Amino acid sequence: MENKPNWLDYDVEQMVAGDKDALWHHLKSHRCFKTQEQMIIVEGKGLMVKDIRGREYLDATSGGVWSVMVGYGRDSIADAVCAQMKKMPYFAGIYGNIPSIKFAKKLLEKLPNHDKVYFSNSGSEANEKAFKIVRQASRIDPERSGKYKIMYRDRDYHGTTFGAMSATGQAQRKQDFGPFLDGFVEFAHCTCYRCPHDKTYGNCDIECARKVEDIILREGAHTIGGMIVEPITAGGGILVPVKEYYPILQEICRKYDIWMIMDEVVCGFGRTGKFWGHEHYEVDPEIITMAKGLASSYEALSATVVKQKVYDAFLNDPADPDTRLNYFRDISTYGGCTSAMTAALESTRIIEDENLLENSVCMGAYLLERLETLRKYAVVGDVRGKGLFCGIEFVTDKATKQAVSEAQMAQLMGNVLAQNVIVGRTNTSFHGLNNIMNFAPCLIITKEQVDTIVAVVAAAIEKTFE
Ligand SMILES: Cc1ncc(COP(=O)(O)O)c(C=O)c1O
Repeated sequence: MENKPNWLDYDVEQMVAGDKDALWHHLKSHRCFKTQEQMIIVEGKGLMVKDIRGREYLDATSGGVWSVMVGYGRDSIADAVCAQMKKMPYFAGIYGNIPSIKFAKKLLEKLPNHDKVYFSNSGSEANEKAFKIVRQASRIDPERSGKYKIMYRDRDYHGTTFGAMSATGQAQRKQDFGPFLDGFVEFAHCTCYRCPHDKTYGNCDIECARKVEDIILREGAHTIGGMIVEPITAGGGILVPVKEYYPILQEICRKYDIWMIMDEVVCGFGRTGKFWGHEHYEVDPEIITMAKGLASSYEALSATVVKQKVYDAFLNDPADPDTRLNYFRDISTYGGCTSAMTAALESTRIIEDENLLENSVCMGAYLLERLETLRKYAVVGDVRGKGLFCGIEFVTDKATKQAVSEAQMAQLMGNVLAQNVIVGRTNTSFHGLNNIMNFAPCLIITKEQVDTIVAVVAAAIEKTFE
């Protein structure tokens, strides 16, 4: 006992009481936090996590928010981080360090049309950088003068900070936090299941993309500098655009010199069966942001990756050479934490060496196929997804597509959890549309684990609705 470091030593009841006393959990009702003992996760291996009471769960969410790509308990990541921390833990990103250089080169290998990598710590921050790049470029590059506005979709999420929230749709999630920043312009999502233009795919002209031009013209194309999109919308309900969507959107953006910002925070690193979500489409965004799966969330890391022309916009400032700012005037303290890039390098090596993209494709197809069988239930309105990223939309009536209530969703989730499986759901994000269950297991999932997840969800549907 004397040799045990104190950070591994705890008393169960003390920790349960401490959790109640001291911790402010994310996205949890303060009321239920007071009355119910909360789950405290203490261990993980593969896809399995164990709570403080010794109960084991199959995690179909990669850590709750789709980010532990390579699974829990990877000693090689911990060992690599430990060695790097002992050698050189930190120096601000104003200078280089070896893990940053190696990981930036690795990222650019995966993004051959891009040229520069800017590190920070969270998805929100990576997106803030993208917005600041657009804004500063609109002030110092005469060719982009006045192009400061950012466009975003009404069901996408881009983060928790004020800039990122201003670029987020999801009205209910934003409720109570306004006013938001000026210069953010919303446009409609592109999910066929609830087509915003009341069309059916095959009998439409991809209005979801084409109509965006009207909004650009209404706002004034000379004022718009960027457009942020999630390749496949995550928290907004697993919305997979049709293949024509991004090429059309890109054509419109290029016509008006609007930089497309692809938010790969969730979809990057194999989640959807390709290394990047946008690789499913013929599209080549100017700016790409990423976080979550970057280091499989063993460490906090995000990046904003740009094309050379974006980087070079900072060299175009015609002001007096003594006063001009021909650099991106931004810094992020923890963008200099070397252990984060070290973890990212090792996590990416695992994805490559263990062929996890292939597993994401095969197991993703199998998961979707198994979930499709749940359409037999009256409450399953839609099943959709790509790779290991799938969702089920629950409705009270398949014809009207009326969403089940959030209370019913909570009950359904409880019935899944009671069978020791953790799945995700849209959470108080859209008034009347918080009805989507999501699945994003670690990329190492097996067929048997897929079978367990689907069987558990089927039983929960029966218990909740039949
Ligand atoms: C698509 C997307 N972008 C950005 C973010 C924000 O990332 P973070 O929570 O690391 O700030 C999230 C978080 O869920 C996300 O889903």
